[in-house]
Amino acid sequence: MPQPAAGSMTSGNWTATGSWHCWQAGGNPPRTGLPPGVNSGTVPASPAEHTRHFRTLTSRLWLQSTGIPTRAKTPLGHRTSLKIEFIDNTPYSPQYRDVYFSREDGLAEARHVFLAGNCLPERWAGCSSFTIAEIGFGTGLNFLATWQCWSRYAPASARLHFVSVEKHPLESATLKACHALFPELGSLSRELRAAWPGTLPGFHRCILDGGRVTLTLCHGDAADALRELVAGVDCWYLDGFAPARNPGVWNERVLREVGRLGRPGTTFATFTVAGRVRRELTAQGFHVRKTPGFGSKREMLVGVMEAAPACRLREPWFRTLSMQFPARDAIVVGAGIAGVQVARHLADRGWSVTVLERHGKPSMEASGSPMAVFSPLLTTRPSREEQYSLQSFVYLLHHLKALDPDRMFHRRCGVLELSMTDERRQRAERVASRPLPAWLVHPVTGEQANAISSAECGFPGLFYPEAGWIRPGQWIQRLHSHPNITLRTGSAVYDAGHDGTAWQALDGNGKVLHTAPVLVFASGRSMDWRQTRWLPFTPVVGQSTFIDAGMLRVRPDCVIRHHGHLLPGNGGPLLAGSTYQRGHGKAVADPAADAENLTGLETSLPGLLAEPADAGRAVSTAHCAVRMSSENRLPLVGALPDPERLSAEYPRMLGRNYRPPAGNPVYPPGLYISAAWGSRGMTNAALGGELLASLICGEPLPLQASLAHATHPARSLVRALKRGTG
Ligand SMILES: Cc1cc2nc3c(=O)[nH]c(=O)nc-3n(C[C@H](O)[C@H](O)[C@H](O)COP(=O)(O)OP(=O)(O)OC[C@H]3O[C@@H](n4cnc5c(N)ncnc54)[C@H](O)[C@@H]3O)c2cc1C
Ligand SMILES: C[S@@+](CC[C@H](N)C(=O)[O-])C[C@H]1O[C@@H](n2cnc3c(N)ncnc32)[C@H](O)[C@@H]1O
Repeated sequence: MPQPAAGSMTSGNWTATGSWHCWQAGGNPPRTGLPPGVNSGTVPASPAEHTRHFRTLTSRLWLQSTGIPTRAKTPLGHRTSLKIEFIDNTPYSPQYRDVYFSREDGLAEARHVFLAGNCLPERWAGCSSFTIAEIGFGTGLNFLATWQCWSRYAPASARLHFVSVEKHPLESATLKACHALFPELGSLSRELRAAWPGTLPGFHRCILDGGRVTLTLCHGDAADALRELVAGVDCWYLDGFAPARNPGVWNERVLREVGRLGRPGTTFATFTVAGRVRRELTAQGFHVRKTPGFGSKREMLVGVMEAAPACRLREPWFRTLSMQFPARDAIVVGAGIAGVQVARHLADRGWSVTVLERHGKPSMEASGSPMAVFSPLLTTRPSREEQYSLQSFVYLLHHLKALDPDRMFHRRCGVLELSMTDERRQRAERVASRPLPAWLVHPVTGEQANAISSAECGFPGLFYPEAGWIRPGQWIQRLHSHPNITLRTGSAVYDAGHDGTAWQALDGNGKVLHTAPVLVFASGRSMDWRQTRWLPFTPVVGQSTFIDAGMLRVRPDCVIRHHGHLLPGNGGPLLAGSTYQRGHGKAVADPAADAENLTGLETSLPGLLAEPADAGRAVSTAHCAVRMSSENRLPLVGALPDPERLSAEYPRMLGRNYRPPAGNPVYPPGLYISAAWGSRGMTNAALGGELLASLICGEPLPLQASLAHATHPARSLVRALKRGTG
């Protein structure tokens, strides 16, 4: 019988602790070596403290859990609003008629049922990473208990991945009220709430504890969210309200995904002993047994996967085997925002990264704008592009908070999107009619727009309060200033080849610039590599223009988006932009493009200009470069296939029992790309860096499989193969 798996790539040996054997033999979950309180039913922090805290709340206080109207449908079609009450100082859901955690002591219950039930923390000994997946994030108590235990008992360099699905995410204020019941978790609660992505549907990644803990929140129904999850799970916390009250979580559809994401040695623990759950988990390959439950609960279930269930590989053409590389060493070609984001996300994981840049300094091409806007792209109906953009935007806010806490190079001044035409007004109305939270976007009247911007805009529109502008040069410098990153400027790469063990980046004389098992192309407009030539790129030239502050009646307080956009900056000239010339591959500054930007401003915002514009006097070119765009306006991020091998293998991939051949020749080992960021690289490339680092390290992905596939480098080839034209 397999043992519960220790963390992936572990050097420790679980069996040596012997605890699993005693559990197998019918005893309680292991007690040895546990932190104080784990599995021992410690008394909660003083009841008097609980009472004091909640005296202000009546015992039946209704908390509105989201800012979205009650029972509103979200873009993904599920309902997020859920009212919770506090009964006996315990959060309770009237809708599900169940408590979030034990009335006796929620924290002790989390430690007994989920930590000890999965033989934690013993399994962390010697591990380098460990993945826990949970159904029902709820108040996050299980997560906080696990994080606390991890920070005390896991190796300092190990990384915890905690993935949790939640259909009704709570507002931060509600989390705070729930966590206040457990003062010992106070600092962790504060850090979690500071990174909290709100109630937006979709996947959201939070990097906590300086990177030691990665939380992936999957907001959506368990069956749908788990179907979208790409991860190898070491243990499961099954915590989705009682099966009799919430069959939506404990059915074959959901538990099949639990099985799919497991592997021999994966464990689970749950508070329930319902026969249906037992049978279903057994059918998924788990050896299931009862063990004493927490407090007044007589029993609970635990189990270990003996054999992974036979699952058909989904979309094997996108499958990239998680690789074990001989060294954690990578080459990144290109020091624009895409390249340094990948480099930084790998460096933060302990990788050694060499960034090769052809210019004398970084960010000299598309990423060289003196200022750039970051804001989400909303569409009138839910779309992949929007979902990707929203998740990227939420991740970026978290990323900037950590990287630039003093806002030295970014401003969250808000972006005002004006509706100057009937068509735009209709678009704004349709966006505003969708159940999106006000912190993300809300409609404004003409008067409100004037008040927000302190400028005479004169048009209604949409306001994105958390969006703003950034100085890419300083951002990029902060990103590559990392002890694990070596930036080599003046290092133009002409070719790249694999010598059987590693990638070599070669200069124009065929001299090896650097060798590493992983190579990432992040070279912006230069994608004429033999490995990338077949990819669908469209170059788009853009130019932005400095506007002397003296030309305007007032410096606006926020970014104004009209037909183009105006960035206020903080002193010095403002920035107007940008032109958009599709199909052009050469970036040459053109006075006509500056005039175009100025005319756009004059036409859209006549009330803003102090005097008739004189392009020759107070206007100059700020930036001119080529953006690379793709066929579906999504970037290309992921492993690079060999197109001929993929085409040859494709017919076999259609077979029911397809398994990739040994060595996975369709995907050359260690070859990746991050490109085609179009006009939105500054908003979207941070999550791209996290995605690529997760792929390279074989970690849970920070976004849904369908989005990873929509941004996959092979997507257009696969589409052609499906149509029979590839
Ligand atoms: C005028 C303009 C305005 C923009 N405004 C915004 C905005 O407001 N908000 C926003 O989100 N986005 C904006 N964008 C888009 C954004 O700038 C891009 O999406 C982003 O910069 C792309 O980054 P990248 O790293 O892929 O490419 P790049 O920044 O071009 O980086 C590629 C790097 O690779 C290097 N390189 C290439 N070939 C080689 C080689 N052979 N060897 C070594 N190094 C090599 C290049 O020198 C370069 O440094 C704007 C773009 C333009 C042109
Ligand atoms: C018992 S609570 C979880 C408690 C949580 N683990 C904690 O630490 O606070 C059950 C959770 O499951 C969520 N839930 C209920 N049905 C769900 C579904 N179909 N998919 C995902 N989550 C669901 C509820 O919203 C609730 O937050």
